[in-house]
Amino acid sequence: MAKSGDYEIPPQVIVLDATAQLKALMSIIRGKTTQRGDFIFYSDRVIRLLVEEALNHLPFVEKEVITPTGAKYDGLGFKGQICGVSIMRAGEAMEQGLRDCCRSVRIGKILIQRDEETAMPQLYYAKLPPDISKRFCLLLDPMLATGGSANKAIEVLLDHGVPEENILFVNLICAPEGIEKMLAVYPKIKIVTAEIDAGLDENKYIIPGLGDFGW
Ligand code: URA
Repeated sequence: MAKSGDYEIPPQVIVLDATAQLKALMSIIRGKTTQRGDFIFYSDRVIRLLVEEALNHLPFVEKEVITPTGAKYDGLGFKGQICGVSIMRAGEAMEQGLRDCCRSVRIGKILIQRDEETAMPQLYYAKLPPDISKRFCLLLDPMLATGGSANKAIEVLLDHGVPEENILFVNLICAPEGIEKMLAVYPKIKIVTAEIDAGLDENKYIIPGLGDFGW
């Protein structure tokens, strides 16, 4: 089984290849002194890589096309339609990366906040494509820390009829705690991430992380 540090990466987790390019991009966005403009530009680069990778994990069907030469090409086509759902607000930063790869893609939004009395994540707002149950769903959130909001968002998607196996959680940085919490409840989901970090600090920030993704 593949490992990130001491952490055994579960089979449902797809981690981008740790190329020198990806490491360089992550070093910029993680850097304490990185300016906002660079943070946005380079996190967009990583988001684009993540979306491209996530699309590789959707089902395809064989598709034959005739090229302008009149010859046959044995190709592939996407099986089914997709949509994006961003977990507000940080997840909204990932919407453009999805639009750049998928023309006219439908994108929904979910707002979850911690209830001040119960400390439990609570759904405040959801606007989802009406036919979401028939689509593969890319759930967008850049930081997976405790997994509380992400699990609540998945619950909302399931309540709207999306099959668990049709959900791909797309994210920049995961904490092992968040992965474990998500997969314990939703083992059929796939997680596509750029890097898995060591863990969480006492304030539930990912370490080493990048601080507040705050957009
Ligand atoms: N959200 C963030 O923006 N950063 C973290 O480290 C955890 C959650």
